Amino acid sequence: MSGPPERPGAPGAVPAGSGGASVASRETREAVLAWRRGLPPAEVAARSARIAARIAAWDAFQRAGCVLAYLATPSEVQTGGLLRAAAPRRVCVPAVVGSDLVLRALAPGARLVRGVLGIREPAGAAAVDPAEVDLALVPGVAFDRAGHRLGRGGGYYDRLLPRLTRATTCGLAFREQVLPALDPAPWDVALDYVCTEDGLLAARQQPS
Ligand SMILES: Nc1ncnc2c1ncn2[C@@H]1O[C@H](COP(=O)(O)OP(=O)(O)O)[C@@H](O)[C@H]1O
Ligand SMILES: [Mg+2]
Repeated sequence: MSGPPERPGAPGAVPAGSGGASVASRETREAVLAWRRGLPPAEVAARSARIAARIAAWDAFQRAGCVLAYLATPSEVQTGGLLRAAAPRRVCVPAVVGSDLVLRALAPGARLVRGVLGIREPAGAAAVDPAEVDLALVPGVAFDRAGHRLGRGGGYYDRLLPRLTRATTCGLAFREQVLPALDPAPWDVALDYVCTEDGLLAARQQPS
């Protein structure tokens, strides 16, 4: 039986009320990820070093007692230098447990294993209470100047961020990942800042 070929984006292609992200978000995600995969590793390293230097000079980083960072995949903003700079502080990174992120302490020299999403996690590390995080450094696929964040589509950080009750939150991104305006969904949680090679963008009004 033959019929008209299915056209992606045709009316009805996305079931109404599916609760999924918009077609635009998915297309943006794919386009930015494809661009980022094409960055040469030396450029990822050089750009990441500039971003790390901005963060290391930031008073919110210097006064933080507990920093949440992440163990980067090869094309994300790298965090090795930042993790070393943060060493006198408590440092934790996320680990995937079911549909949630839990926080695990990252001790220097910790043994790392791949979690269910293929992201490195410290093995057998102590849990950290999200309410104890002072500064959260967050990866993402794209951000905008209002602090909206597009992730990989799992909503993991949207579920974690409300539990970081006292943290200043900051997305780390290469400058091309900051787009004019994302289309946030009702569950998307905006960040306070976004940091690129060009510096720190204050995204949200800070509570006084
Ligand atoms: N706070 C939340 N509670 C329950 N489900 C959530 C929450 N935040 C996000 N989700 C779910 O996660 C899915 C993916 O979220 P989305 O914002 O598209 O991903 P990402 O932030 O990773 O780009 C959504 O379809 C939504 O149903
Ligand atoms: Mg989201």
